[in-house]
Amino acid sequence: MRALILSFLQSRAVKRLPALHKNAATPMKIQEQAVPQTWHAALVLTLGSLVATPVLALPVSFVTAAPPSTGAIALPVGKNGQIGEAASQVDRIANGAISRAITTAAFKGNPGDTLTLYAVGPYSRVTLIGIGEGANTRIGLEDFGGRVARAALEGQAATWAVIVPDAPAIADAGALVALGARLGSYEFPQLGKTARPHTDRPLRLHVANAAAASTAWTQRWQPVGDGVKLARDLISTPSNIKSPQWYTDYIRSAFEGVPNVSITVIDEKEAARLGMGGLVGVGQGSTRPARLLAIHYRGGAKDAAPISFVGKGITFDTGGISIKPGDGMWRMRYDMAGSAASMGAVLAAAKRGAKVNVVGVAALAENMPDGNAIRPGDVLTSMSGKTMEILNTDAEGRMVLADANWWTQETFKPSLLINIATLTGSARAALGDDYAALFHNHEAAAKRVEEAGAAVGENTWRLPIHPSTRADIKSDVADVKNVVEGGAPGASIGAAFIEEWVKPETPWVHLDIAGVAWANSRKPTIPPGAVGFGVKLFDEIISQSEGR
Ligand code: BES
Ligand code: ZN
Ligand code: MN
Repeated sequence: MRALILSFLQSRAVKRLPALHKNAATPMKIQEQAVPQTWHAALVLTLGSLVATPVLALPVSFVTAAPPSTGAIALPVGKNGQIGEAASQVDRIANGAISRAITTAAFKGNPGDTLTLYAVGPYSRVTLIGIGEGANTRIGLEDFGGRVARAALEGQAATWAVIVPDAPAIADAGALVALGARLGSYEFPQLGKTARPHTDRPLRLHVANAAAASTAWTQRWQPVGDGVKLARDLISTPSNIKSPQWYTDYIRSAFEGVPNVSITVIDEKEAARLGMGGLVGVGQGSTRPARLLAIHYRGGAKDAAPISFVGKGITFDTGGISIKPGDGMWRMRYDMAGSAASMGAVLAAAKRGAKVNVVGVAALAENMPDGNAIRPGDVLTSMSGKTMEILNTDAEGRMVLADANWWTQETFKPSLLINIATLTGSARAALGDDYAALFHNHEAAAKRVEEAGAAVGENTWRLPIHPSTRADIKSDVADVKNVVEGGAPGASIGAAFIEEWVKPETPWVHLDIAGVAWANSRKPTIPPGAVGFGVKLFDEIISQSEGR
């Protein structure tokens, strides 16, 4: 059976790929010609779209109506078991059974507390979801949405009524609950598994103003959900599929029909011609060569300098000749998570028509050991002319970012340059999955990133680049070396290296997301696996700069 599907798909694989992301409207400008992709990549992806559609989807709609008096309903419960006006109405319909249950079960309404009651009054089920003081924050509302989604996926009801918390301080509360539901119910298609029918389990969100909530959802927050989904899909895709070339094709189709967007793809020959020794060097150990991908969204003034997000896009990191140990190496398919955040952020901005100019750059290469691979001890010349001594081929992220940063500054003269990269195990060891490490050359830019992260629940923590670290990376045979004997402080050494390719006049922030880009356990809006860290943070930065 599987062989049959395979051969059937093989014949039509390439054709079906773009259908993954259908969008109407203006076609985008393509400056370079697409290189035909290999069939196996498209094949497995087609399998994903045909065979492995998610079993359940949770489409959202908004209603202003009073709560229903039947079916399944989800209610927010605040701290000390307090319930708001709409939930009180539900309680009255159930003859007080809900408030009695809250008291009897000593339900405190803390975030994470949930309680499901069956057959109370006219309802088949009432799921109480603790929000604590979450109605006062965006994160609290998104988390509520994520928990509603889990309840809807795990319970048996065909449709749900959802009471959105009263959130006087937060604009777009209903849409933020919807965003949380979308993010919390994300699932990567199970490639190659037998088809299961797709079922909708609609969520009807009860809000004060359904028209306003619906507009906020479709115009402002659904695009952000789409951006996070794009990032998660890219990160989750196995690396036999996800070559640099596949990645660029995928981005072309993801942005198909999205207005005011242009895409640039630099292949390895062009990159070599431009002198990108770092990017080409990392990619040359793979049969699937490097690419530099830029996606440029113009939503702001014609002459306004763009914000740029330059992401590490190592589609798989074996370490190269300085090969990694086998344990857990499979996870290194996420080594392009930084670039995925850049792509997702631009998609969100473009889909919502943000009034800013934004550039997302992906420095794409596969780090493999091979007869043509670079060796420890090699010296490479980068696009800026600076030379790098490669003492460890596993410190490859900084090498591709060196050229990507230089090219981005030369091409776009950005007002802000943010690097995002799963750069070092050191950042993960220091900060775990709670904070991305933040480095910078510009106090105001750092503050901007830090505050945006805190606002959206993508937290950052500053780490230093000591002048001695800058001195430590000086090389005897080249301008700089990519690692330092002894290795400490690892994350800072990586940052100091990248900083060598940042012009002093460019406000620069570097986020090392090695610890935060992959979730080992579930959170309300983050399923285990690809997080999509950075998309919401960048969306917040973009949104703040719209007012500037
Ligand atoms: N992609 C890794 C970073 C990484 C390592 C992320 C472990 C998550 C877990 C990066 O390319 C890398 O290999 N970094 C090395 C640098 C070292 C050779 C200086 C590291 O951190 O060990
Ligand atoms: Zn890496
Ligand atoms: Mn590496």
